[in-house]
Amino acid sequence: MKRLVLTTSGESHGPGLFASLRGLPAGLEVQTAELELQMKRRMHGYGRGARMKIETDAVEIRAGVRGGRTLGSPLGLWIENRDYASWQGVMDPYEVDSRKAERRRVHSPRPGHADLAGGIKYLRRDLRDVLERASARETAARVAAGAFARMLLAEFDIRIASGVRSLGSVGAEAPPPTWEQLLAMDDDSPLRAADPDLEDEMIALVDRATADGETLGGSVTVVAHNVPPGLGSYTHWDEKLDGRLAQAVMSVPAVKAVEIGGALDASRAFGSAAHDPIEPAADGGFGRPSNRAGGTEGGVTNGEDVVVTAYKKPISTLRKGLPSIDLDTGEARTSQYERSDVTALPAAGVIAEAMVALVLADALLEKLGGDSMIELRAHWAATQGLQREWPQRVPRESP
Ligand SMILES: Cc1cc2nc3c(=O)[nH]c(=O)nc-3n(C[C@H](O)[C@H](O)[C@H](O)COP(=O)(O)O)c2cc1C
Repeated sequence: MKRLVLTTSGESHGPGLFASLRGLPAGLEVQTAELELQMKRRMHGYGRGARMKIETDAVEIRAGVRGGRTLGSPLGLWIENRDYASWQGVMDPYEVDSRKAERRRVHSPRPGHADLAGGIKYLRRDLRDVLERASARETAARVAAGAFARMLLAEFDIRIASGVRSLGSVGAEAPPPTWEQLLAMDDDSPLRAADPDLEDEMIALVDRATADGETLGGSVTVVAHNVPPGLGSYTHWDEKLDGRLAQAVMSVPAVKAVEIGGALDASRAFGSAAHDPIEPAADGGFGRPSNRAGGTEGGVTNGEDVVVTAYKKPISTLRKGLPSIDLDTGEARTSQYERSDVTALPAAGVIAEAMVALVLADALLEKLGGDSMIELRAHWAATQGLQREWPQRVPRESP
């Protein structure tokens, strides 16, 4: 990100999480209800572990806001880990209780997790040092920061939603949902299925996986609505918005593929069935009858909805374990079990929404410039006017 800079810190069972977000303009009104809603949405979902019932994830604003409005200075957010009390002897920043720490020591790495690779990189023998930070608990800080990006986007009526497109093999052939489908969906349903007709089948699959000590992955689609044309750029590889979205969404734990629009289908089709025609409209402008491109062409938003699907691998901690080794003995041993989710797709959708919000807010700030909401609104109005009058306003012979 260029204008917004997000840093998170904190361990899964440590005292709590921090988020520092730099680059928000001054004068943005903080919507605490929006912040609370996003934190609550991240914890929701059928197939989650017991921890989701412990954590209530209240966000404390510690810096960057005065009297309910941003100051233009870095935002500082703090989220306490409610279950730290039972981990204090193990995760205390100053001193650990060696007997308690020994009981929680991780010496049998879980395939699919950062345990082994992280242990080798940071030369840690107790793999708890790795998993505490690699855990998806960190994403609570991203969702909190992302809520501020959403507040900024909402000032310009840009909205973001997501839905579970597929779970395991259920819905694997389903096309990406549209904005209208996501609006019609019940956000409080157990799995937040984008197609409600698939929800019962998905729930049955989660039940089967739970009974078998298994885990599940799938896909979630994020749609951003009312995104103006002209965010991102085709002029530099690192400014292309599709690339920026892919990086941000791929960084959500366990996401292993990102699709923009209907890219998978398009890759298998002839060109005539893969793109979006441009048609003259009655008002003298133009229209697009389809949105296979998912709202970006050449790395620039084209005014259509931005559609991003994240494909998530199954959770790496299986109750029945996976083949691994014991680092103490070097012998084969089933990987250790940590309290874990069976699937976390609905939550992954909320995290991916936060990442999309951060990328779009970043691109919007880059496009509009300005340090305050007053400036931003003025620049927005000017840009909207220019875009409306284009191409009549720009002379044909202009360089
Ligand atoms: C919301 C969410 C919750 C997750 N919960 C768990 C969990 O309970 N247990 C687990 O082993 N992995 C869980 N994961 C996945 C791991 O965080 C992820 O597999 C791990 O970081 C390695 O993935 P990576 O290679 O993409 O980093 C979760 C992921 C997300 C997005």
